[in-house]
Amino acid sequence: MSTEETLILVKPDGVARGLTGEVLRRIEAKGYKIVDLRMVNASRELLEEHYEEHAGKPFFGPLVEFMASGPVVAVRASGNRVIEGFRSLAGATDPTVAAPGTIRGDLGRDWGAAVTQNIVHGSDSTLSAERELALWFA
Ligand code: PPS
Repeated sequence: MSTEETLILVKPDGVARGLTGEVLRRIEAKGYKIVDLRMVNASRELLEEHYEEHAGKPFFGPLVEFMASGPVVAVRASGNRVIEGFRSLAGATDPTVAAPGTIRGDLGRDWGAAVTQNIVHGSDSTLSAERELALWFA
């Protein structure tokens, strides 16, 4: 299996809660390499493109607003099967039921907010990773 790259985002809730270092620590502790990293105040235009596959879903607008509500940390990470591996590190979308041991399971919960605040994003396929890395590291 050849080395691949993925896009990881520490979402505004993760940055605001001071969890960026913990997320980066877990990426590196797993053995993945952080190749590039930047803090971004993402525009709605960028976020609408990033989440284009979800356009039309009820959570699309609130998700874009949430992601624009504060800085995010964008990470380019590499390693064998890093796309699948980081999704496994992140855990299930809903942090309340994400397995303990995962980022969302250990560090997240339902805060009663209108949108799901789940700390991180990771690309879900090689195609998504290529598209998302081009957007965030243009
Ligand atoms: S789907 O419909 O099954 O494809 O959606 P899912 O994979 O569960 O989630 C896709 C991304 O949308 C986010 N999401 C939400 N955000 C805010 N509020 C609600 N209710 C909500 N539901 C899903 C979810 O966190 C995923 O974001 P990323 O950044 O890709 O992890």
